Amino acid sequence: MIVVWRVTELCNLACAFCAFDRRLDRPRRVAGREEVLAFGRVLGDYQRSTGERVMVSWIGGEPLLWPAVFEVSRQLQRDHGLSISATTNGTTLHRANVQRQILETFSELTLSVDGPAAFHDSVRGAPGNWAQLQRATRALADARDELGVKGRPLRLRANTVLMHNNLPMFAALCHTLADWGVVEITFNQLGGRDRPEFFPSHRLRPEDAAQLAALVPPLRDALAQRGVKLCGSAAYLKRIEASVHNQRIEVTDCAPGERFLFLDESGRLAPCSFSLDEWSVPMAELSSADDLMALPQRFAALRQHQSALACSDCPSTQVFPKFIA
Ligand SMILES: C[S@@+](CC[C@H](N)C(=O)[O-])C[C@H]1O[C@@H](n2cnc3c(N)ncnc32)[C@H](O)[C@@H]1O
Ligand code: SF4
Repeated sequence: MIVVWRVTELCNLACAFCAFDRRLDRPRRVAGREEVLAFGRVLGDYQRSTGERVMVSWIGGEPLLWPAVFEVSRQLQRDHGLSISATTNGTTLHRANVQRQILETFSELTLSVDGPAAFHDSVRGAPGNWAQLQRATRALADARDELGVKGRPLRLRANTVLMHNNLPMFAALCHTLADWGVVEITFNQLGGRDRPEFFPSHRLRPEDAAQLAALVPPLRDALAQRGVKLCGSAAYLKRIEASVHNQRIEVTDCAPGERFLFLDESGRLAPCSFSLDEWSVPMAELSSADDLMALPQRFAALRQHQSALACSDCPSTQVFPKFIA
């Protein structure tokens, strides 16, 4: 079970493609430490009862700005045996205590890197961020390698937002990330919901999707030779191809609540971030592993009552698997 948990809507960067860009006037809610710990206990019970591994993946906003992130991660990992991960812009990763706590507690860390230095820093409104990420990733990779089999094997990953103007840079970027010590690379196509003003001129075009489909197999082979996995299933590439042609892909039943959950900073639990408004269940209503096991039935009942708008053109990276090769 993968639990993607948005613990803060605050962010310190100004990414032109993102809904959490610090320049935007929008709500900036933050999760409560106690509430997160309470539901973490339920996830721990679920893992013990079912034997199914539960991975909690913090997201935001910038999740490493959430003040309780390391204390809560430690408790969920140590007391409940949950695996911990986060996706980060890397702005706090230069701090020795941040690196230490990640190495002690996290199983995975995903760094957002969108191109070579000039492109990345410019699209993220973050001069110097790329160099900072490079230094921190190398330091984490060195520490991971030194720990060897004795320590917690931190899986260093990177995620890139693919747009029309950075696609030509993607193959070289992947090799740079391999030099840094990253072992797994994923990509998103630029999504249009977050910043409708940025999307039309930066989105992937039909020729880009064709180029991507041709680029991935040999790049995957070349990276595999270096011990790096380039993710993105055939279904995921098909999803991108449909999007660039403005073709909708409707999904009528994605088995909501069975393998993947999304939680927001207000404690709403949904099958994915796109169905929050129609199908969320307050996490406070679930107090046991049994409650969590009954969630698919609850979502099914909600689905019968009301459809979710997003399902008529499902953008979920879990339904169209982003994380497998
Ligand atoms: C919303 S961010 C939050 C985590 C963290 N602040 C970061 O930048 O990694 C999560 C991921 O979504 C990506 N992202 C943000 N806006 C996007 C968009 N419009 N389309 C596709 N991916 C996007 C980011 O690059 C990042 O990898
Ligand atoms: S992509 Fe991440 S770093 Fe950039 S504005 Fe969004 S939440 Fe912040």
